[in-house]
Amino acid sequence: MPNLHAVVQAGGRGTRLAPYSTVLPKALMPVGGGCVIDNLLARFSAAGVKTVSITVSAFGPLIRSYCGDGERWGLEIEYIFEEEPLGTIGPLNALRHTVRDPFFVTNSDVFADVDLDSVLSEHREHGAPLTVVVTRQVVNIAYGVLEHHSGMVTDFREKPSQQFSVSTGIYLMEPSIFDHIPPSGPFGFDELMRTMLARGVPVNVYEHHGSWIDIGRVEDLRRAQEHAELAMRAPA
Ligand code: GDD
Ligand code: MG
Repeated sequence: MPNLHAVVQAGGRGTRLAPYSTVLPKALMPVGGGCVIDNLLARFSAAGVKTVSITVSAFGPLIRSYCGDGERWGLEIEYIFEEEPLGTIGPLNALRHTVRDPFFVTNSDVFADVDLDSVLSEHREHGAPLTVVVTRQVVNIAYGVLEHHSGMVTDFREKPSQQFSVSTGIYLMEPSIFDHIPPSGPFGFDELMRTMLARGVPVNVYEHHGSWIDIGRVEDLRRAQEHAELAMRAPA
């Protein structure tokens, strides 16, 4: 059994969550009995993760003072401070020469009940350098939608909705992922996807059917808080 490692990307500015994010990083936004990162760290620990790297920027000292050495989750936590924003994938370069086994990566602003054991076993089964945990999101259009061609209506749908498979910001990666990440500088998940697709490198998806909320906007943070409140009140 390899020593399972996880990385939490927690160095973003969180501007869409202002004014809360002017005093707190998204990782430390209150949800349930603790904050967003509690749920992530507890899930990693339950899945057998032993060590965690948290990549941080200006709010790093605050995150470190909350999470400490990770003992309360049975984890060993290290903090990786960055001077300039490296994006959602670039901070992984700090691990480029040390990782030997598959490792989890997650955004710090997701509140979800993903079954990480299943992610790991599906990832092992498929053997690609990257597994992306995805979930279904429905976009509702509040209007009648017309298709038209040469000034004539060809189709009409009243208030249609469309489903998309979206990235949850939770991944499982092989060390070979670094073949597709430039060795320094900012790099985003969007750039990683485009690079891998252009090179024809396989990327697995793991479909998550449970709850998932990116708490990056005030209304979504509220929704996560309500969800956690209900879950805490539900009989065991
Ligand atoms: N260390 C570090 N450095 N972390 C960063 C940086 C950075 O420069 N920029 C962002 N992060 C961290 C944020 O703190 C957050 O936890 C996570 O990376 C994602 O950043 P967001 O700014 O919240 O990204 P997003 O929500 O717009 O989009 C990303 O997440 C979606 C899922 O929630 C993308 O990866 C989307 O593809 C994905 O669907
Ligand atoms: Mg986000």
